[in-house]
Amino acid sequence: MNRLLLISFFSLLITGVVTSFSWRATFENVEKVHVSLTSIEDVLYRLGDQKMNHTINELDLEKAKIGEDLIYFGRTDRKGKKSKRISAYFVCTDCHNMSSEYSDLKSQNPSERLAYAENNGLKFLPGSTLWGIYNRTSFYNGDYVQKYGELVDDARNSLENSTQLCAKYCSSGRHLEEWELEAIMHYFKKNEIMIKDLNLSEDDLSLIVNYQRLNDKKREKLITAIKNEYVQGYAATFLETMPRDKRKYGEGGNVENGKLIYDKACMFCHENKRVTYLHLDDGKLSGKMFWQNIKTYNDRSLYQIIRHGTFSKTGRKQYMPLYTEEKMSDAQLNDLVAYIKLIAKKK
Ligand code: HEC
Ligand code: HEC
Repeated sequence: MNRLLLISFFSLLITGVVTSFSWRATFENVEKVHVSLTSIEDVLYRLGDQKMNHTINELDLEKAKIGEDLIYFGRTDRKGKKSKRISAYFVCTDCHNMSSEYSDLKSQNPSERLAYAENNGLKFLPGSTLWGIYNRTSFYNGDYVQKYGELVDDARNSLENSTQLCAKYCSSGRHLEEWELEAIMHYFKKNEIMIKDLNLSEDDLSLIVNYQRLNDKKREKLITAIKNEYVQGYAATFLETMPRDKRKYGEGGNVENGKLIYDKACMFCHENKRVTYLHLDDGKLSGKMFWQNIKTYNDRSLYQIIRHGTFSKTGRKQYMPLYTEEKMSDAQLNDLVAYIKLIAKKK
């Protein structure tokens, strides 16, 4: 009898331990899913990181919708009237995508950016994406100081100031009014990065779930691990026009990539003179125009225009933004030249 009691006691104990284990595991999995749907900002803050200086504590979806209008159309309907356009020449989406641009958010590699654009139907633009910009902490990095001089001083560490800089100078427009800036910030908040967008390990996810048990040192380590999974500020390297003796003139270039770049970058702005007087298409005429200038150092040379863009001249405020090395590599430029050569010589 005693023995039987003992056995049943043990078996009860074992089932108890086993079920509590699996309960725990299930509980932890539910928590992991929950955490993956949390914003990076919330998780970092929980772990003891400082708030960013543009932090928005409560997302206002109505404001975010107005921000979306401003970004896509440059204006919105307000009090039954159309608001004044930010720029007569551009909207934000002429130069910036509004979705993720890399499958791996720590990447800044232009080939990965092009492949991602191909697979996800995105444009290949000179500006960085505004998706996830809410989570970045430095702007107009690297060589942009050459282009915008001391204007970048106030913009480097401020999302609001860099938005103002871009609205006025990059988009040849004007400074935003208070309500416009606020609406755009709410739109940025709405498009912030979530934990699920990062490639965190299962172990790191467990640590996040159980963060209350971590000491300060471990929390700091976890903050670093999270921040290492996405870019805090995009690098920007300006390149000089490639000297003639270094140009490969398309030799060895990948024509398919070249076509992608031409379609997703050049034609997006130039086809049917969308934002400029210069019409480009994939016909022989456009090809020949570029091919005839391929050895020169003027604006119609691909080697020159891509690295320098154009300046907004007095009287004409449209200008072409340059491509940094991070946004178009020299190898990609060579791919583009290979494609241009092909269409120039088309029968
Ligand atoms: C004609 C092109 C163009 C237009 C139009 C434009 N931008 Fe930009 N913007 C750029 C370029 C180029 C940069 C340089 C830095 C980068 O994005 O990598 C930039 C930078 C920024 C930055 C800082 C990004 C960073 O990571 O450094 C913000 C924020 C920004 N723009 C917001 C806007 C908003 C909002 C609009 C619309 C009101 C707008 N931009 C319109 C070209 C443009
Ligand atoms: C964000 C829009 C945009 C993109 C992308 C773009 N351009 Fe431009 N491009 C312009 C604007 C605006 C001008 C200025 C022309 C003007 O004054 O209207 C210009 C000017 C030029 C000019 C100089 C015209 C001249 O006679 O001075 C060339 C050549 C040119 N672009 C080629 C390209 C090529 C090649 C690409 C692809 C790598 C490209 N553009 C991508 C907007 C763009």
